[in-house]
This record gives sequence, C-alpha cells and structure tokens, in this order.
Amino acid sequence: MKKVVLITGISSGFGKQTARLLSQMGHSVYGTVRKSIQADPGVNVLIMDLTDHKSIREAVRTVVEKEGRIDVLINNAGMHTGGPVETLPSEFLRLQMETSFLGMVHVTREVLPVMRSNNGGRIINISSIGGLMGLPFQGFYSASKFAVEGFSEALRMETAGFNIRVVVINPGDFHTNNSLNRRSYLAPSGPEDPYAAQFKKSLAIIEHDEGKGWDPALLAKTLARIVECANPRQRYIVGSFDQKLAVLLKKVLPGRLFRMILAGHYGLRQKP
Ligand SMILES: NC(=O)c1ccc[n+]([C@@H]2O[C@H](COP(=O)([O-])OP(=O)(O)OC[C@H]3O[C@@H](n4cnc5c(N)ncnc54)[C@H](OP(=O)(O)O)[C@@H]3O)[C@@H](O)[C@H]2O)c1
Repeated sequence: MKKVVLITGISSGFGKQTARLLSQMGHSVYGTVRKSIQADPGVNVLIMDLTDHKSIREAVRTVVEKEGRIDVLINNAGMHTGGPVETLPSEFLRLQMETSFLGMVHVTREVLPVMRSNNGGRIINISSIGGLMGLPFQGFYSASKFAVEGFSEALRMETAGFNIRVVVINPGDFHTNNSLNRRSYLAPSGPEDPYAAQFKKSLAIIEHDEGKGWDPALLAKTLARIVECANPRQRYIVGSFDQKLAVLLKKVLPGRLFRMILAGHYGLRQKP
C-alpha cells in the first residue's frame, strides 16, 4: 500500500538514498533540506532547518495540506561534532543537541497529532552505534544519540496505544557526507592542547573507519523494508560484525574491560 513518508535531511547520505528508493517503490515521499536542491523525480522537497521551529511546523503543515496524513516519519537529519569534551566550543554542543536531538523531538511533536488523528503511524529514529556506547572525542555526538535512545523508548510506550510504532536504527560506519561535514565542527587544536595527540590519532581512526564504511544505499534498503513490513522490530543495528560484537560485549563484559577494548581501538592510552 502506498504510504505518505516524511524524511528529514535528503540532500545526501542515508536521506538521499532512502527518499530515492521509497519514491521508486511508489510511496509519496516528502524530504527536507536546508537549501533548495535538485531532488530525484518523484521526491517532494520541503525546506526545513531542525534548529528553526517555524520551518518544522511549516514543512509538516505542507504535507498535511497536500496528503491529509503522514504514515511514516523518518527522523534522519543530523550532524557530527568531533573533539575533546573539555575544549570543543560550546556552540558546537548547542548545535549538536539542537540538530540531532531537539530537532528530532520538535519534528516528532508536530507529526504525532497527525498520526493520532489518522489512527496510527510509524516513526523511525536514526540513532547510531554511538548511541549505545560513548565514543571518545565524539562525546557531544554520543550524548545526542543517547538522548535519542531514551526519548524513543519513552515515546514508544506512550504512543503504542495509538497504534504508533517507534523504531530505532543504530547504523555503524557508512560512507556518506558525514565525515566531510564534520570537518567544519572539529575542536580547534594547537600545540598547547593537552588532548591534541590523542584526538589526532582517534580522528584518523574514525575517518578511516568511515572511509571504508558501507554504501548508504544498503541502509536505505533496510529502511524501506521497515516502512513496508507489517510488524517491524523495535531496533535494527546495521553494521559490521565487529560493530555488532562491540554492542554485545558492552552488555556482557565488566565496564572497565570494555572501556580498555574500545579505547584500544581508538589508540588511546588508559590507566586501568
Ligand atoms: N554515516 C554514518 O556512518 C552514520 C552512522 C551512524 C549514524 N548516522 C546518522 O545518520 C543520519 C544521516 O547522516 P548521514 O551519514 O547520511 O550524513 P550526511 O550525508 O551528512 O547527511 C546529513 C543530512 O542531515 C542534514 N542536516 C544537517 N544539519 C541539519 C539541520 N540543522 N537541519 C536540517 N537538516 C540538517 C544535512 O543537510 P545539509 O546538506 O543542509 O547539511 C543532510 O541532508 C544522521 O542522523 C547521522 O548522525 C550516520
């Protein structure tokens, strides 16, 4: 059955591939961008900045005026800051939370009454493996994704009675514009910076992992399956064997041991 899908952040990465695939499958797709783009045929483009509440309200209103309903919301748009918690500029903290967490909350709150009046819907929130474990020098990013996790768990219970399903996606490393965009949100680091050497080493590993990450079209296929299936799971972890293993190890290993393993991956020296 054709569904009305609203997806945030379709200028690149997961959003672009997912909007393309869903519209090719015959769904009525509305995708948001901050700056006007030439989207794929069949994809309706709306202007929305997650840090601008008015633009969120207007975008949701446009879909409702045209379609009368929203069946699926994919909260995808996000950004990624990088740097030490101590020295990453505070405005990056604000931007990280406003984009990856508060923006998602505002979009969801606008869409919920629409779904309730339509007797149901599906909300798919893009979290991260970094929403399941704090990642070094990605502290603000991880915090925003941990917030997405708590928000989604609570929302799922509140809305189940209205036939609204909440699904969380935890992608591992995918090759998108994520790394490129992060370059504008890195902590400034000079010779006096006590974290500089470790940050540099970790950043190289982060970018290496992302560089050899999977094609975002793969995640788009998973999202399309979730849009169409009758009974989606609550969570989908989509990543390499190592990334899935890390999620499992965090659950079963003593905290200190897990920290040593994770820090080792990022080349960080640790005192036990
Ligand atoms: N790639 C990965 O390895 C990975 C892993 C785990 C989770 N994720 C998550 O997946 C989601 C999509 O990321 P991606 O990898 O596809 O990265 P991407 O290619 O950089 O796409 C991010 C999208 O979000 C939009 N966006 C950024 N800030 C925004 C704002 N303030 N308001 C509205 N839209 C905004 C961007 O639009 P502009 O063109 O206007 O900037 C872009 O369309 C994010 O939530 C990210 O955290 C990615």
